[in-house]
Amino acid sequence: MEQTYFKIHPQVLRIDSTIPFDVYIRNIDGEYAQFHSKDTAYTAHFHNFIFINSLSELFVKKSDANNYFFYLENIFSEVLNDPFIGNKEKAFIAHGTITTIAMNLFQNVNAATALRYKKAIKPITEFVLKNDDSVKHLIMLTSNQYHEYNHPVNVGIFGMGLAKEMLNPEEHNLTEVFTGFFLHDIGKYTIPKEIYQKNSPLTEQEWVIMKKHPQFGYDLLKKYNLLTPESEVIVLQHHERHNGTGYPAGLNRDQIHTYSKICSIADAFDALSAYRPFRDAQSSYRALEIMREEMKNEFDNEFFKKFVLLFRNQGLD
Ligand SMILES: [Fe+2]
Ligand SMILES: [Fe+2]
Repeated sequence: MEQTYFKIHPQVLRIDSTIPFDVYIRNIDGEYAQFHSKDTAYTAHFHNFIFINSLSELFVKKSDANNYFFYLENIFSEVLNDPFIGNKEKAFIAHGTITTIAMNLFQNVNAATALRYKKAIKPITEFVLKNDDSVKHLIMLTSNQYHEYNHPVNVGIFGMGLAKEMLNPEEHNLTEVFTGFFLHDIGKYTIPKEIYQKNSPLTEQEWVIMKKHPQFGYDLLKKYNLLTPESEVIVLQHHERHNGTGYPAGLNRDQIHTYSKICSIADAFDALSAYRPFRDAQSSYRALEIMREEMKNEFDNEFFKKFVLLFRNQGLD
């Protein structure tokens, strides 16, 4: 029974808004009772009931998760800045909302959804920069179940963590840098699904097509009018490698932009940590070990060391 519902914070329900999901309360026997019906206005009456009864948690059915996060998307900034909501809950909200949009983008790549995705990254950037424990909470939510829509979200999260350690917000437009991380693989969506979703290693010919995804991503963002100097370098260079073995241009060392160095570490780490049908997921510890030993010269060492510290300092490895 427990599995069918997830907990929400009562504070996220805004008075006078229409709520597109049913809301439940749990009684002392652990039974769920409907508190508020879908598609009706959430009035002050409901809010007062919560206040009078000191309810600190409400519940939503997992089958309504998309509607819940869609509702949050419209009040995203307000919720992420609400002092009555804790950072762990905010991280859950941020992660769920951005993952829902990433899923929509994956299902149908278009300019309007790409813009929704980009708009949601600004409040997340503020949340991450303002709160020391935000990255830790977000990392704990990253899924190791590889999917084309949770990979960019994971890379966004790991990238934000590392960028926060390395880049001064006064000198860089971090909203745009973070947006680049979340969009780094958008070009993959224009590659035939049988190639990028293949459940076995790619053939040589398929690799030739796959390796075009940085350029396709650049073209797509340009077409959507979403290309910025930050997303341009990240999308084009995230597969370049420190020792020159990457693609598409075979750049090396400081020919590779700082933002792309960060993205390539986050990207490789997520690819190793994720479960793929053709190999097991690696633990964070093991993924970092593979990067340090087997992929030794592929990353800028100074950046890589900071990335390892990110996990150690947060007690996550
Ligand atoms: Fe990529
Ligand atoms: Fe990627």
